[in-house]
Amino acid sequence: MNLFDVYPLYNITPVKAEGCYIYDENNIEYLDLYGGHGVISVGHTHPDYVSKIKKQLDNLGFYSNAIKNPLQVELADKLGKVSGCTNYSLFLCNSGAEANENALKLASFHTGKARVISFKNSFHGRTSAAVAVTDNPKINAPINKQQIVTFLELNDADAVENELKKGDVCAVIIEGIQGVGGLDEGTTPFFKKLESLCKEYDAILILDEIQSGYGRCGKFFAFQHHDIQPDIITTAKGMGNGFPIGGVLISAKLKASYGLLGTTFGGNHLACAAAISVLEIIEKEDLITNVNDVSDYFLSEIKQISQIKNIKGKGLMLGLEFDFEIGELRKKLIYEHHIFTGGAMNKKLLRILPPLSVKKVHIDTFIKALKEILKS
Ligand SMILES: Cc1ncc(COP(=O)(O)O)c(C=O)c1O
Repeated sequence: MNLFDVYPLYNITPVKAEGCYIYDENNIEYLDLYGGHGVISVGHTHPDYVSKIKKQLDNLGFYSNAIKNPLQVELADKLGKVSGCTNYSLFLCNSGAEANENALKLASFHTGKARVISFKNSFHGRTSAAVAVTDNPKINAPINKQQIVTFLELNDADAVENELKKGDVCAVIIEGIQGVGGLDEGTTPFFKKLESLCKEYDAILILDEIQSGYGRCGKFFAFQHHDIQPDIITTAKGMGNGFPIGGVLISAKLKASYGLLGTTFGGNHLACAAAISVLEIIEKEDLITNVNDVSDYFLSEIKQISQIKNIKGKGLMLGLEFDFEIGELRKKLIYEHHIFTGGAMNKKLLRILPPLSVKKVHIDTFIKALKEILKS
């Protein structure tokens, strides 16, 4: 059987990894400044993480959500404490799209309404409602286009209010910082206005922190830069450091009832062990302080590269905007300098999403490579 051919692939086959490095079958070392789409949080094959998952597998890998699973309780407790979101409840699932599906569904159940406000250039996943609220018609099939969604400009609070006034909006969904779209973000006054408008017009404010969360932006969640309390927060990516897991953090305003949500695999024992280990490492190694230190260093050193016209993002979720399309630059970084970086919908933007444990020396390597490529 062939693979369904939907991914244009770089011609590299990683076979092992450690920390911020990936090794191919010829043992060539690659510096990972992309973390496989911002997934690697605590570093590849972190020894504590590996041993926790192995131990769990020796005991119990999976059983259904019809029985007690103390690991889910431990994960919820730890996530609440580490993120500062103790007054939320946790629903566990397997991916980012699934977290957003459940968030949107909850908003619709709670308000009895169906229309969603989303923003231009947003990305929220590829499944049913999650892709419908994603601003990319190319990945929306006719079945997805049945959803009722209005896309507005980021930071246009008047437009949001005009739509909310119509009374049929169940949710406003927004990324902490836009990832795939190209690192644009709402201002603090805009986030604060969204919070108050959603309260006023009985809509649920969903913060998609799937890429921007888990310490990546220098606080546990990016919205914490804006001093707001969303009704729902969605997480995935960094949550499992590569083990598939997603989470929906739900404020007390939304009430649970038996059967309201459900999943076969979500919150399984192995996934919980992985996610607990990630939080333990984030705390033990003070990775959020490291994110801020390395980010400051990156932002000061990158000034040496005059071809960069604009820098977007926060912490270690950064976008370097050039005045040319970066496809060739990215290829040279990978094939000639063995450094992984990312692209975005904005073709002139190079995305940097390294493991949160990345060191200043790795930034030096990247800047040296950029200089060499750009002078040639
Ligand atoms: C902000 C955001 N939301 C949702 C998703 C979808 O996550 P997943 O691919 O795990 O379904 C992504 C993935 O890139 C994302 O960046």
